[in-house]
Amino acid sequence: MTLLSKLGASRSVTAALLASGIATGFAGSAAAQCDDGETVLKFSLVTKLRGHPKGEAALAWADMINSEMQGELCMEVYPSSELYDDNDVFGALLSNDVQIAAPSASKFKDYSELLTLFDVPFLFDSALHVDEFLRATDAPARFSASIEDDGFVMLGFWTNGMYQMSATRVLRAPDDAQGLTFRVQSASAPVASMMDRLGVEGKSMSFSKVYDALKDGEVQGQYNTWSNISAEGFYLEQAAVVETNHGYLGYPVIMAKSFLDGLPLATRQKLINSFALITHERNRFAYEINQQSRLEILEDEGIILRLNEEELALWRDRLLPIQDEFRANIDAELIDLAISANAAADPFGAQ
Ligand code: LMR
Repeated sequence: MTLLSKLGASRSVTAALLASGIATGFAGSAAAQCDDGETVLKFSLVTKLRGHPKGEAALAWADMINSEMQGELCMEVYPSSELYDDNDVFGALLSNDVQIAAPSASKFKDYSELLTLFDVPFLFDSALHVDEFLRATDAPARFSASIEDDGFVMLGFWTNGMYQMSATRVLRAPDDAQGLTFRVQSASAPVASMMDRLGVEGKSMSFSKVYDALKDGEVQGQYNTWSNISAEGFYLEQAAVVETNHGYLGYPVIMAKSFLDGLPLATRQKLINSFALITHERNRFAYEINQQSRLEILEDEGIILRLNEEELALWRDRLLPIQDEFRANIDAELIDLAISANAAADPFGAQ
């Protein structure tokens, strides 16, 4: 068997498994058996559950609630956009059709420009740097305040990881993307600027549509984390995934303020405490899950391109001016806070 036919065989098997939901763990919902008298918390996700940082965190939280808050609360987790996609979920929270959601920060564009900070390229060196930024500054309080008027409370942030770019062409240099159409999560100002600077058309599209859009050629490129690229099989339709690490995917975990405030105080406190515990525990695993997903892409003979320093410098030079745009047009203080927190962070303990 030639390398090419072997590659074709292996990748098409994965594609078929992906389509049937077998390759990436079960895709069904984790609906709990709720008892009479328990307040049901429906948690709507667009990603899969197993092997995904957000899915695993949601499952762990549901386990904790359902074993420790019997008789009070009952959490049901609905993955893979079974209930809502990320654009509809904001309205569904406000109409109390779901009670918890964790859309990526980029999707808050219509509610909070501050949260589009994470779309600014090359602001953070790693997801662990972002964790330190969120721990060491008042940024989470600012983010939470910025969505309060729209009726939401942010309980905290769940981490996924850093974005990698891929396309039907190998993107060694920023100009290699010119003329292509890329799927984007939202047309936030930093994302729109990034697309312009790469000479790319950005097409905003819900997560559940991306694989088919890549397969049918409706879009030719995308960016996402290793866990999303692997779990959804995006790499199967791309020439290569380029290790750009240019941005950060994280999730503000939100509820409708009216719903949370309506819970008895002791129940609310237990819910918030359990969230803090799970967040602390699960955020530490996000990095591992993404590294594992990266390996799985390689094992399936997906092509990953690691850029050398000169090549990476070209990407940085092209996209770094977006930091100044954010400073001038959105929030100078926040971006300066992010830049200094990133510089001060020492997550790997190197002195
Ligand atoms: C995306 O739309 O690409 C991501 O926000 C999906 C997710 O929730 O990780």
